Amino acid sequence: MKFLQITDLHMNAGGPLYGLDPAERLAACIADIRRTHADADRAVITGDLAHSGDPAAYRRLREMLQGLEMPTHLLIGNHDSRSEFRKAFPDHPVDSDGNVQFTVDTAAGRFICLDTNVPGAHHGELDAARLRWLTDELDRAGEKPVYLFMHHPPFDVGIRRMDRISLRDKAAFAEVVSGRPGIRQLFFGHLHRPISGMWNGIPFANLPGMNHQVALDFEIEDEVPGSHEPPFYAVIFADPGQTIVHLKNFLDQTNTFHL
Ligand SMILES: [Fe+2]
Ligand SMILES: [Fe+2]
Repeated sequence: MKFLQITDLHMNAGGPLYGLDPAERLAACIADIRRTHADADRAVITGDLAHSGDPAAYRRLREMLQGLEMPTHLLIGNHDSRSEFRKAFPDHPVDSDGNVQFTVDTAAGRFICLDTNVPGAHHGELDAARLRWLTDELDRAGEKPVYLFMHHPPFDVGIRRMDRISLRDKAAFAEVVSGRPGIRQLFFGHLHRPISGMWNGIPFANLPGMNHQVALDFEIEDEVPGSHEPPFYAVIFADPGQTIVHLKNFLDQTNTFHL
């Protein structure tokens, strides 16, 4: 099964953000998907949908996503407002506590999407209720392959200021997901960088954001090092025996040719 991941749109009500236009970027991304990957089964957008949780940003996003003609699952991140998101997307699934957590059964297996948002804060959290929900969904998945999606990474990556705003209580999350061989891959956002590897036995992949990026800097302590590196979206092939994550630099204008 082929699906797409897009992350960290940081949509605003209009105008530039860090010198770039988030809506222009998203429009270019959607146009590229329509041109080259319209056959994807679905797309997942892993949070920071809006930069300041602004109602106008969610309205613009809702309109723009109509151009992405495939089922599209939305997660929220630290820059989002859960309440404004829910007003703008009233039909979007939530759990019984109103968190934007949901499960989607696909041809490849079960997608479990988590809500790590803490209102007013930039770090992420999964409190006892959200972890309980995750445990139940993992139990219900039984033998099915599971693909986990969340905004905040549940581990440090060495970019110091970002590591201070990753998921809190990483040990509690690790305990819930450990010993679950059905978990095939973890997808997250938040870091605005292409990063892949393995954590706690689980392969993971992460993407640059749609608008601005975090520079690769392991020294800066007190601020997020920004950059204007290009945005990517991911084209993922998920099958029983393998998960292949391709990164698409959709703004790239360099020549293509036959070798
Ligand atoms: Fe972000
Ligand atoms: Fe974030």
